[in-house]
Amino acid sequence: MSKTIRRKIVAGNWKMNLNSIQALELVTGISTYLENQDLPEHQETIICPAAPHLYPAANAIAEELDNKLSVGAQNCYPETSGAYTGEMAPEMLLDIGCKYVLVGHSERRKYFGESHDFLSKKVDKALEAGLTPIFCCGESLDIREAGTQEDYVATQLRESLFHLTEAQFAQLILAYEPVWAIGTGKTASPEQAQDMHAAIRQLLVKQYGSELANGVTILYGGSCKPANAEALFSQKDVDGGLIGGASLKTDSFTQLIEILASFK
Ligand code: PGA
Repeated sequence: MSKTIRRKIVAGNWKMNLNSIQALELVTGISTYLENQDLPEHQETIICPAAPHLYPAANAIAEELDNKLSVGAQNCYPETSGAYTGEMAPEMLLDIGCKYVLVGHSERRKYFGESHDFLSKKVDKALEAGLTPIFCCGESLDIREAGTQEDYVATQLRESLFHLTEAQFAQLILAYEPVWAIGTGKTASPEQAQDMHAAIRQLLVKQYGSELANGVTILYGGSCKPANAEALFSQKDVDGGLIGGASLKTDSFTQLIEILASFK
């Protein structure tokens, strides 16, 4: 049976890496690759540079790559403007050419204490402004060892997302990123990834119905690289990847794009 046609995405989370020259070189390298590729219609590439590089990156992408290569921010604040020193409004991000924003990344949850409630406000505000949230969820090692990962992730989704209407939820992208696999070199096995993606989709079926659930793009993240991407991307419910380390080099990132494209 063929996979349902969902939007397939390779998204690069550059985190707090690269100087301005390196960032532009990477955007140029990825753009050049994409300009010379005939990728499936439903495949998209997203880069999420650090805040200082967002505008130059968005500005450097040629119009021909509209809908093929987009820029996402790694963070936003759930207000339009005001006295929030150091923060960025979703409207500002949209204004400088961003289309996406990461919400709920485990590093934001861990180092910045972002709660379910705060994340739900970010999702609301991003959607209201017209940015698409890429909502990250995933369990830590102790949760995985206790075998309660499905309940844990269900709580993350329920608490931050299930207040959304169907129309709002349909705009989201989800990323399942087991915390024990992020930046550790320890990837989830293809079976572990598939099991969790299927469990998440099942939860969405219950909450929003099968039509919506089957249309939601769910990315895998956590030490995904060219050497293991084929096995991960071939899984029925894995629609691409959210990539950290391997997104910082044109070669490895474009290889991931190519691997995803091979699963039309
Ligand atoms: P990693 O990071 O690919 O370096 O494990 C993934 C992420 O944090 O999104």
